[in-house]
Amino acid sequence: MLGIYDSGSGGLRALSTIREREPDADILYRGDLKHAPYGTRQREDLIRIIMQNIERFHALGCAHILVACMTASSLIPALPPAYRQSVYPIIDYVGARAAALSREGRIGIVSTSRTMKEGGLRRYLLAHGVSVTESEADALVPLVEEEVSQSDIRVTDAIARATRIHREAQVDTLVLGCTHFPFFTDAFRKVMGEDVTLIPSGEVGAEAFLKQIPKDVLKGKGHIHFI
Ligand code: DGL
Repeated sequence: MLGIYDSGSGGLRALSTIREREPDADILYRGDLKHAPYGTRQREDLIRIIMQNIERFHALGCAHILVACMTASSLIPALPPAYRQSVYPIIDYVGARAAALSREGRIGIVSTSRTMKEGGLRRYLLAHGVSVTESEADALVPLVEEEVSQSDIRVTDAIARATRIHREAQVDTLVLGCTHFPFFTDAFRKVMGEDVTLIPSGEVGAEAFLKQIPKDVLKGKGHIHFI
């Protein structure tokens, strides 16, 4: 049985990716709406919440957990070892894909404030010799949960603001560094133009996760439980 964990709906895109590729896998999905949004929370508070969520998966016998949330992924290194075992944070997978796909070595990251403050993705990319610009777009998270349309002025304004620094830096790749943001891919595409590669964090994380986990974990009855 696999676990997929996010603060809310963002991880559903990772769920679809896994479902498409491994239809027989049994999956537990947890969107922790009780504590969402994560991106504006204090570090210690969020660490406690993430630990509680991992405990919940463990209590249900789920050993392999995809953390399909960039914000929670940024804090996994800060957890005690027992909480890191068989827990797969998407952040490094996403960094690896962005570094591999960037044509000119100018990468932008749009994430939540907490992910930006933790700086894990920035450090990873800088260590791979690319230049990085960063911005937050916390405002988009509740708009995804409310299923607001991509053409809504609140969405287009937030995206215009969050992408300005990246457009000025003429990035060739933009990491949608929160698993909620790919729900607004068309709106990002519109402002960034066709030539910029957009990296959807949840989908990329899910693909890489499937390559890492033992194959027998993927054999099941294709059940999905929302917990
Ligand atoms: N979807 C999550 C992420 O990737 C969390 C968004 C939030 O709850 O602020 O960062």
